[in-house]
Amino acid sequence: MSTSPENGQSLALPVTDPDLEQRLKSRLALIEKALAGHVQSRAPFITEAASHLLAAGGKRFRPLLVLLAAECGDRADSDDVLTAACVVELTHLASLYHDDVMDEALLRRGADSANARWDNLVAILTGDFLFARSSELTAELGPRAVHIQSQTFARLVEGQIMETRAPQPGEDPVEHHLDVIAGKTGILIATSARYGAIFGGASPEVEEALTSYGEIIGAAFQISDDILDIASESDVSGKTPGTDLREGVPTLPVLFARRAARAEDARLLELLDSDLSQDDAGVAETLALLRAHPAMDEARRYVLDEARRAKALLAALPEGAVRDALEAFADIVATRSA
Ligand code: IPE
Ligand code: IPE
Ligand code: MG
Ligand code: MG
Repeated sequence: MSTSPENGQSLALPVTDPDLEQRLKSRLALIEKALAGHVQSRAPFITEAASHLLAAGGKRFRPLLVLLAAECGDRADSDDVLTAACVVELTHLASLYHDDVMDEALLRRGADSANARWDNLVAILTGDFLFARSSELTAELGPRAVHIQSQTFARLVEGQIMETRAPQPGEDPVEHHLDVIAGKTGILIATSARYGAIFGGASPEVEEALTSYGEIIGAAFQISDDILDIASESDVSGKTPGTDLREGVPTLPVLFARRAARAEDARLLELLDSDLSQDDAGVAETLALLRAHPAMDEARRYVLDEARRAKALLAALPEGAVRDALEAFADIVATRSA
């Protein structure tokens, strides 16, 4: 199970500068406290349902990116930066409640998913409650933030919906998939970096570079996660490995394997085309075939190339501890699935 940074023990990335590390840790602790307040409802049951996944863990990757991006400006310590960090984590959290319904996932952050613990209705409406809380907070940041937040939310939902639809006739399945993940995952991570830049007081050039960096890193983060869903032998992620296969959700390694269409892949393709939702042996066999397939390394190479492309954008930032930390952030995304 993943641990939240609230315990003050570790950040989701190595920061070599002790002052920066201390600053990030103490601000993450403030965010953690604020988040616990934002999930409170007038109804005790809703508070229980909304705190369930918040308390279960999570890497707090998006709030950390808000804080790091804010370090590129002259108002890194402003309250708006903390509010923006809460906005992105609440949006993410809400999307997890909905996502586990879509994916029929039973485990999240090492705990029962809300749909497993209660039911789909509770999970969906609790997600809505969290989206509402995130909107309320966004309003405190002013109309520009509301505009960005609405566009971000629309893209996220579009990505989630388009994942359930097959590509259009003539549309390349890999392109379709990259568009899906740019929406369901990339945009919120891009917005995290962008909010940090805006509310930390960075220049428009730095804001633009950080937004593009976030977009690329966000999609790469999703692909890394999808590689791990196939490659990891255990539930270290706090989720059940193989869930994507079971649910028939296409991911980049699977699409690369399909595209390779080697003669020896007949059995793999047959399994991928079958209904694996209730077929434990079929999932195990598919996982074994995929793990040995060159498509896995092809996907890993793609992530490495994307991380390199994201890091190149950081040339717009002054050299120093913050830029180093953002580079380390990109490296973690790339190497976690290596
Ligand atoms: C999970 O995101 C959904 C994906 C984009 C793969 P995280 O991996 O950031 O989830 P938590 O917040 O740490 O649980
Ligand atoms: C991640 O969904 C994107 C959102 C939650 C919006 P996935 O289904 O790919 O992620 P996991 O594996 O359940 O975390
Ligand atoms: Mg899922
Ligand atoms: Mg999903």
